[in-house]
Amino acid sequence: MIQADPDKYGVVGDPIAHSKSPLIHRLFAEQTGQNISYQAIRIDSEEISFANAIKQLKLEGFKGLNITLPYKVDAFEQADQLTERAQLAQAVNTYLFNENGQILGDNTDGAGLVLDIEQQGQRPFNDQRVLIIGAGGAVQGILQPLLAKQPGLVHIANRTAKRAELLGQRFSTPIPITGSGWQDIPQEPFDIIINGTSASLEGKLPPISEKVIGRHSLVYDMMYAAEPTVFLNWAKQHQPECQILDGLGMLVGQAAESFYLWRGIKPDIEPVIQQVRKLIS
Ligand code: ATR
Repeated sequence: MIQADPDKYGVVGDPIAHSKSPLIHRLFAEQTGQNISYQAIRIDSEEISFANAIKQLKLEGFKGLNITLPYKVDAFEQADQLTERAQLAQAVNTYLFNENGQILGDNTDGAGLVLDIEQQGQRPFNDQRVLIIGAGGAVQGILQPLLAKQPGLVHIANRTAKRAELLGQRFSTPIPITGSGWQDIPQEPFDIIINGTSASLEGKLPPISEKVIGRHSLVYDMMYAAEPTVFLNWAKQHQPECQILDGLGMLVGQAAESFYLWRGIKPDIEPVIQQVRKLIS
């Protein structure tokens, strides 16, 4: 039997060599029997603009792309159409090239986080008290999908208090959203605590009180590493019974949501998280 050529997908960014996305999508394709190829493509801004690189990839017959740092805002600006969640995030991590040549821009980061917390964390969001730490681009991307899950309340805390307050005000929802600096975080346990600052990347801890962690809290760091992050270590040190999860599941979750947009099939993320975990540790 002659096998048809695979549909082409990929991830663009810079740097891109260490991206886990080609592995993740290969595992998804095997799991679901989809005939696709997926490659990592570096866009060097000194050689080509983001817009021209995308035009070229479209001409080469790509059906869709993931977009990672530093191009998520460029991807937002260059899309012909946007999903509501991409519009609210003001950043795009997934392109779907439509039959009519138009580019649909989506943002699956927040859906990936929600999927991971619900599946690996076994935590439905409804009625949960959620503390989000950080108010930058990464947090902006997760708020709408998180609010859609009807948490009981959301408090956003950030080094720059004003940024947290303004971000909270952008969403019109009956769910109470408040924002503050570190000092004004309510000093009582939250059910779900999500660190979305870039501080973890530098091995730094946001200076918040351990009173926010309870025995039943799920503590989540949006970044991941071979070892538990400083934030997750801090949480366990103060509350050994709390549940911790790092952002590897979010990475696989956002990929699963992109795969679903492209192929109409949602892969099972858990075996893929385990395989990628083995590889990085
Ligand atoms: P990203 O797209 O990764 O979210 P960003 O938009 O620059 O990047 O946002 C970085 C976030 O991490 C912000 O919430 C930032 O706080 P400020 O708004 O006060 O700048 C936070 N952040 C960065 N470095 C930090 C540090 N050392 N301690 C605490 N928060 C930090």
